[in-house]
Amino acid sequence: MTILITGGAGFIGANFVLDWLAQSSEAVINLDKLTYAGNLETLASLQGDARHIFVQGDIGDSALVDGLLARHRPRAVLNFAAESHVDRSIHSPEDFIQTNIVGTFRLLEAVRAYWNELEGEAKAAFRFLHVSTDEVYGSLGAADPAFTEDHRYEPNSPYSASKAASDHLVRAYHHTYGLPVLTTNCSNNYGPCHFPEKLIPLMIVNALASKALPVYGDGMQVRDWLYVKDHCSAIRRVLEAGRLGEVYNVGGWNEKPNIEIVNTVCALLDELRPKVDARSYSTQISYVKDRPGHDRRYAIDAGKIERELAWRPAETFESGIRKTVQWYLANPEWVAHVQSGAYRDWVQTQYASV
Ligand code: NAD
Ligand code: DAU
Repeated sequence: MTILITGGAGFIGANFVLDWLAQSSEAVINLDKLTYAGNLETLASLQGDARHIFVQGDIGDSALVDGLLARHRPRAVLNFAAESHVDRSIHSPEDFIQTNIVGTFRLLEAVRAYWNELEGEAKAAFRFLHVSTDEVYGSLGAADPAFTEDHRYEPNSPYSASKAASDHLVRAYHHTYGLPVLTTNCSNNYGPCHFPEKLIPLMIVNALASKALPVYGDGMQVRDWLYVKDHCSAIRRVLEAGRLGEVYNVGGWNEKPNIEIVNTVCALLDELRPKVDARSYSTQISYVKDRPGHDRRYAIDAGKIERELAWRPAETFESGIRKTVQWYLANPEWVAHVQSGAYRDWVQTQYASV
C-alpha cells in the first residue's frame, strides 16, 4: 500500500510525512516542486528509508503525475502543495493562481483518470484529500460565532481566493464525476520546521538575532492556533474515516491576538535563552504598517470533526508553543541554513551520489 502526497517538503507536509512514517509501514511518494518553501533538510532523518520516495516536480505537470500514479498505484492522494504565504500573494499573486488553482485542477484531472481505471475494492477505497485553510471563509467580527463548514466563502486575499477556487474545484469533481474527495479547512499551524516568513518562527529567529519583531497594525488581529502535529493527526483521521464529499474544519480552540502570541514567544525566550543584558526580548517589538486587506479575526468551530471522527488536539497552546520555541533553540543549524539559503543546495549535496 502506498499514498502519494504533494508538497511534502513544506512545513505541514514534511511534518505529516515524518509522523506518517513514524507510525505506519505504508510507503509515501512525496511530490514537491521545491519552491523556496520546500526544504528537504527537514526530512533528512528519512535518508535511506525505502518507504519515502521523493520526486521533485510540479503538481501541474500532468505527464509526471500520470506516470507516478501509474507506477506506484497509490490508494490515496493528499494535496498539501500550495503557495501559502499571504504577504507573498499580495506582492505577486501569479504563482498562487498557477499552483493553487491551475495546479490543483491538473492534479484532479490526473487523479480522475487514474481513479476511473481502478476497479472493485481499489476503486471503492481510493481517496483524494485536499488540505485547505480557514482563510477561505473571510474575516469575522469580534462577536461573530466561529466558522462552521457551512459558513459562506468570502476570501479576501489572492492567497485565500486561490485556495477557495481549489476547494470549489475539489467539490465539483465529487459532485460531477463522483471522485471520492475529502477536504479539510484548518486554522493557523505552528511547530517545528516552520519557514521563518510566518509570524511565530519569524518572531523566534528575529528575537534571537537581535532584530526588530514587526507587528502589523495594532497587533489585535485574532487567529486560531493549532500545533502542526495535531493538524497531521486530524488529516490522518479524516483520511481514515471521513465521509466522502465532506468538509471538516480543523482548529485548536486557541483564539489569540497576534500581540499576545509575540509576547508569549518573548516570555519563553526570556526564560529559556535569557539575553546577556537581562532585558526582555519584548523590547524588540516594533509596530509596523498593516498588511493590506488584513483579515481581523479567524475562529474555527471544530465541533464536526470532534463529534463525527472523535478527533481532538493533543496539545494546548501553552504546551505546543513551548515545544516550538524549544525546537528552534535546539536546531540552530536548520535555521541558519534557511537564512543563508544553503537549504536549497541540500538536494545536490545529499543526493549527488545517488
Ligand atoms: P509551505 O509553503 O510551507 O509548503 C508548501 C510546499 O508545497 C513546499 O514544499 C513547496 O515546495 C510545495 N509546492 C509549491 N508549489 C508546488 C507545485 N506547483 N507542485 C508541487 N509542490 C509545490 O505550506 P504549508 O504551511 O506547509 O501549507 C501546506 C498546505 O496547508 C497548503 O495547502 C496550505 O494552504 C494549507 N494550510 C496551511 C496552514 C498554515 O498555517 N501553514 C493552515 C491551514 C492550511
Ligand atoms: O489561517 C490559516 C493560514 O494561516 C494559512 O492558510 C496560511 O497558509 C498561513 O500562512 C497562515 O496565514 P496568516 O496570514 O494568518 O499567517 P502569518 O504567519 O503570515 O500571519 C499571522 C498573523 O500575524 C497575521 O494576522 C499577520 C500577522 N503578522 C505576520 C507577520 C509575518 C505580523 O503581525 N507580523 C509579521 O511579520
